[in-house]
Amino acid sequence: MNSNSSSHPIEEEKGIIVDLGTGDGRFVYQSARKNPHRFYLGIDASANLLEKVSEKIHRKPAKGGLKNALFIQAAVEDLPVELAGVADEVHIHFPWGSLLKGVATGDETILKNIHRICAPDAVLEVIIGVDQERDSTELERLGISSLSKEFIASDLEQRYLECGFQISAVGSFAPGNWPDLCTSWAQRLRNNDKRSIIYFTARRT
Ligand SMILES: C[S@@+](CC[C@H](N)C(=O)[O-])C[C@H]1O[C@@H](n2cnc3c(N)ncnc32)[C@H](O)[C@@H]1O
Repeated sequence: MNSNSSSHPIEEEKGIIVDLGTGDGRFVYQSARKNPHRFYLGIDASANLLEKVSEKIHRKPAKGGLKNALFIQAAVEDLPVELAGVADEVHIHFPWGSLLKGVATGDETILKNIHRICAPDAVLEVIIGVDQERDSTELERLGISSLSKEFIASDLEQRYLECGFQISAVGSFAPGNWPDLCTSWAQRLRNNDKRSIIYFTARRT
């Protein structure tokens, strides 16, 4: 797992990469700069965060503009029908709220919505930052009973399979030992000495 797309294991020369719950769009913006032959689409339910980066990509190239990136305001619950089958990769980095609930509990509606935007054989990558103590109330509120590797490899794997995703890798990083991830929340959360990363990748069947 390496979300810094310069050394991503599933990296290819071309393709459309969707960052779901993109936040301020840092992953999309930086990745699009590094990989001009790939097209990056950042999607987030919140318009506020997208404003600044959306304005930036439309500038002239010399001023930071990019032709291979786009941002869309949409919730995972209501993705535009035009996105059906477009994504070669879907990344979900440090989700919260209903997006976290959907991927961490294997919610059928949410997984099917994500499945719908995937091209055949697309890869889904989910990265979650967890501080068990601090997040316990929120995890309980969202109905997330466990975020362990064991839970993902057993219960969650079956739920993903039923929604058309084969989980292919599950892993974790201890607090203080995070890889270099190109997202704003990775920067924000990485210095917490109790927050670990749990991640998994899945392939659309
Ligand atoms: C903690 S931020 C992470 C942002 C970014 N991925 C990063 O790593 O910097 C979680 C993001 O998920 C988005 N989000 C939460 N629920 C969502 C949903 N149902 N559909 C789409 N985006 C959602 C939030 O608006 C927020 O921007």
